[in-house]
Amino acid sequence: MKKILALVLALVMVFACAAIASAEELITVGFAQNGHESDWRVANTQNYNDVLTADNGFDLTLIDCENDNAKQIEAVRNFIQQEVDYILIAPETNVGWDVVLQEAQDAGIPVIIVDRQVDADPSMYTAFIGTNSYDEGVTAANWLDEYMGQKGIEEAKILVIEGSNGASAQIGRTEGFNSVADTKDNWTILASQDGNFTQAEGQEVMESFLKNPDYAGFNVLVCQNDNEAYGAMDAMDAAGVTYGVDGDVIIISYDATKEGLTRTLDGRITCDVECNPLQAEAVMALIKQIEAEEDFELVTYVEDKAFVAPGIESALATTMTDEVLAGRAY
Ligand code: AHR
Repeated sequence: MKKILALVLALVMVFACAAIASAEELITVGFAQNGHESDWRVANTQNYNDVLTADNGFDLTLIDCENDNAKQIEAVRNFIQQEVDYILIAPETNVGWDVVLQEAQDAGIPVIIVDRQVDADPSMYTAFIGTNSYDEGVTAANWLDEYMGQKGIEEAKILVIEGSNGASAQIGRTEGFNSVADTKDNWTILASQDGNFTQAEGQEVMESFLKNPDYAGFNVLVCQNDNEAYGAMDAMDAAGVTYGVDGDVIIISYDATKEGLTRTLDGRITCDVECNPLQAEAVMALIKQIEAEEDFELVTYVEDKAFVAPGIESALATTMTDEVLAGRAY
């Protein structure tokens, strides 16, 4: 009996040691996620939870920082204290990062900036993986130019609901779009206001636009993400303003989430420029390269496309079909 007990005990010890050893081998990653402001962000968080798993060799701690830079900095400081192997930051706004990036560097912890960019010297962090917001803005504007030519629309009177002011996604999309708009004598940006990347604020901003007689006659609405576009549509529905391929207002949106593409397929959104939330695979590949001491890219942009409502031919965008929608998982 004693021998059996000793054997059982020995086996328990072996399994316990193996479990501890394998937990120790996992790469620990602390992620200061921006928040949960949009469907896009929810899909982005899900992607990290799906990819940086124990099965793939990771122990991920993801903190939802509620769109607050200060909370993100606090989360990063906690990760430094916990001595995680890697820190990921999806910054709410692009400024204010130098001090905490220096602290991470002093602690010898690689920092990967994801999704949005920071306004800090690239030597302060290890790499950036995300989308190219400036290019997204250029694509949106070039598509509008192409569409106006096709339809013989002589003038664009544009209203813009921007994303959170100071976010690189807002800055890039605005600068990219304006770089084309500035070259067009027949385009006027009537107003541009912060909708914080949320449906509620998109609706609020649109309601205030619709009350302003100076903006009467606008024929283009640019929403810097899909959720803002949904809010703006609710406001326009309530005011009896028609939009989309059959209406008076061309809607350009960004993100191309499943719901956004559903509304593109039914013609309510005229053009939806993708911002790809599936970035965790690229982050995983990068960390594995760093672990293997291989060379890696300092800046990686994930691929983005643009989608247009059925019936619109475009050299710059994919025409929406049921098949395209069926392939959209988020
Ligand atoms: O930084 C990416 C942007 O942030 C997405 O366009 C938006 O939906 C999100 O909230």
